[in-house]
Amino acid sequence: MPKLTYLGHDAFLMEEGDTRLVIDPFLSGNPLAKEKPENIKVQYVLLTHGHGDHLGDGIAIAKANNATIIAPFELATACEKKGCQTHPMHIGGAHEFPFGRVKLTIAHHGSGADFGGDSLAYMGNPCGFLVTMGGKTVYHAGDTGLFLDMQLIGEMNRIDTALLPIGDNFTMGIDDAVKAVEFLKPGLTIPMHYNTFDVINADPNEFKRKVQSIGRQARVMAVGESLSL
Ligand code: NI
Ligand code: MN
Repeated sequence: MPKLTYLGHDAFLMEEGDTRLVIDPFLSGNPLAKEKPENIKVQYVLLTHGHGDHLGDGIAIAKANNATIIAPFELATACEKKGCQTHPMHIGGAHEFPFGRVKLTIAHHGSGADFGGDSLAYMGNPCGFLVTMGGKTVYHAGDTGLFLDMQLIGEMNRIDTALLPIGDNFTMGIDDAVKAVEFLKPGLTIPMHYNTFDVINADPNEFKRKVQSIGRQARVMAVGESLSL
């Protein structure tokens, strides 16, 4: 049974058997993170987009572990130029990895990366991930606004666990995320992308109550907490 661990913000560790992967490992400079990047031992690093709070320590973790970065083509190519092993993908595409399947979904957002220039470097489109391992499918929405195609994602995939942003300002707020749950029909929803910075303060328990009021399950994960999927 795959295990999911919340590292704070949008960062999650997924483990199944000998495989460990991390999604959006923003740990350095993350006021809520408890884990240090050097303690993350993984074979794969999944990156939804180039913003600092998602790319985060991704390159350093990938290099330290000789891990493969799985990301949209432009972001993967930029990571490759920085010396990382990568598996580029793009929206709508799925691939069978030794540990399971990864499919990229749309996300309505930006993806510029701060590589030190005067402006952000272009990283193409952001994405969300459908990750299937150990027979369980997790949908990590990345940073996105609400979109009606979530209905299609819910119709074509049996989502066991959805990881949805609720912090508003940059992404969906609570009410839009509740509508997303209605579209996706996941077995369980876990809120993310809230309370890391003041501008994305949101009450995850309000989200949980609202999800329960439409007959769905939600769970608020503490940073460092693990869950068997
Ligand atoms: Ni972002
Ligand atoms: Mn973000």
